[in-house]
Order: sequence, then structure tokens, then C-alpha cells
Amino acid sequence: MDTPKHIAIIMDGNGRWAKKRGMPRTYGHTMGAKTVEKICRAAGEQGVKYLTLYAFSTENWSRPDMEVKALMKLLGSYLDNCLETARENQMRVRVIGDITRLEPKFQEQIKAVEEASKDYDRLHLTIAINYGSRDEMVRGMRKLACDVRDGKLAPEEISEDRFAGYLDTAGIPDPDLLIRTSGEQRLSNYLLWQLAYSEFYFTEKPWPDFDEEELAKAIDAYSNRERRYGGV
Ligand code: FPP
Repeated sequence: MDTPKHIAIIMDGNGRWAKKRGMPRTYGHTMGAKTVEKICRAAGEQGVKYLTLYAFSTENWSRPDMEVKALMKLLGSYLDNCLETARENQMRVRVIGDITRLEPKFQEQIKAVEEASKDYDRLHLTIAINYGSRDEMVRGMRKLACDVRDGKLAPEEISEDRFAGYLDTAGIPDPDLLIRTSGEQRLSNYLLWQLAYSEFYFTEKPWPDFDEEELAKAIDAYSNRERRYGGV
């Protein structure tokens, strides 16, 4: 198999990585944000076209207030610097998730980065913020139900492709490969619809230690697999 066109990543293990070093969990997230920059560059260089990162889940609001605030601040400053990085890497940036629950200033920042980078085509970076796959599907189904109610769509016209068009990821191809770092082997409400046929790669490496070489290893493992879609 070739290089995966689309890689989705669950960036796990920041907290444990920091704790092992006697540091607060938020330090792990800060170092995790540095890994994000490294991996965006490496993904582009290694021929990956789409990269989708799980930055903040709908469940993450239940973390200590201080950690939630630190994560939001980190994401905000990442987006601040993102315009420059997006231009350098010709990277289109999109955010998926229910952003209406985020601070209005943060929502504006997201829209500004999406707008400014919309014509770049080297790497398509999607960041999941306040994202949960079930929530995404429910929001999508509500929009679809409204369209049926308003006569824009007949029930018989609902197909897999049509439904996918109501998801936050509309227009983005499904991931070929899912990577989860730090040893856990579960999906945690991430891209449940979109990952239906993806290959999974789990590594013990915590996210702050994940680097270009680890990415290359994951791509290599993917390339050596025989991908099946349910046929023979
Ligand atoms: C999971 O590790 C990680 C998160 C909940 C946050 C991911 C965020 C970043 C990597 C930083 C910023 C992201 C961007 C896109 C700039 P965990 O804290 O649950 O780790 P643990 O399982 O060891 O506790």
C-alpha cells in the first residue's frame, strides 16, 4: 500500500508524560503542542495530504478547570501563530466540533484562520475542538431533519454520501490510518463514522515523544498491510 492520504491522530499521553517528569499535566500539553508543529511539517514532507488531530473532546470539559483553561489558551496561541505556519507550509486549517460552546473571541480566531488559509492545498490540517463523534452525528441529523421538513430533501434521497455531507468533516476524505499514542487502544468518540474502513496503529510512545521517525514507522506499518473493505 502507498502512503496514507489522510491520517487521523488521537494525541494521548501528555499528562502521564509530564507526571513522569514531576511536572504539571499542562506542561505535557505545552510539549504536545510542539509535537503538533513537528508532525505537521513531517506529514507534508512524507506525502500525507490530510491530517486530523483530536485536540479537545466534548468529554474534556470535565477535567479540572485549570487544565481546561490551559488547553484553551494553548489552542488559542497555536491558532495565533498558525497564520504564519499555514503560509509557510501552504496548509489549509479547519476546525471540526461544536465551536459554538467556545469563547466568542476564540470562535472569531478560528473563522479567521480558516478563511485566511482556505486556498492552501499542500496539507489539510483539521483540528477537532469540542468534538465528539456522537455529538457531530446528532448535530448533522438535526440539520438533515430540518432539510427534510423544509422539503429540500426526500427521505428516499438519504444515502451514506448524503449523510456524510451533514457531518463536520463534509468534503474531507475519510482517514486511511488512525494513530493513537500512549498505549490505549480505543476510539474515545473520535470520527466513528469516518473511521469505518481505516487501519489502526497504536504505539506506546506518549504524544510529546512522537516525532518524524515515529510517523514514518506508522506509515511504514500501514504500507505493509493488505487493506480490505469487506470483500475478499
Ligand atoms: C490527551 O492527553 C491529550 C489531550 C486531551 C489534549 C491534546 C492537546 C494537545 C496535544 C495540545 C495542543 C493541540 C494543538 C492542536 C495545538 P492526556 O492529557 O489525556 O494524557 P494522559 O492520558 O496521559 O492523562
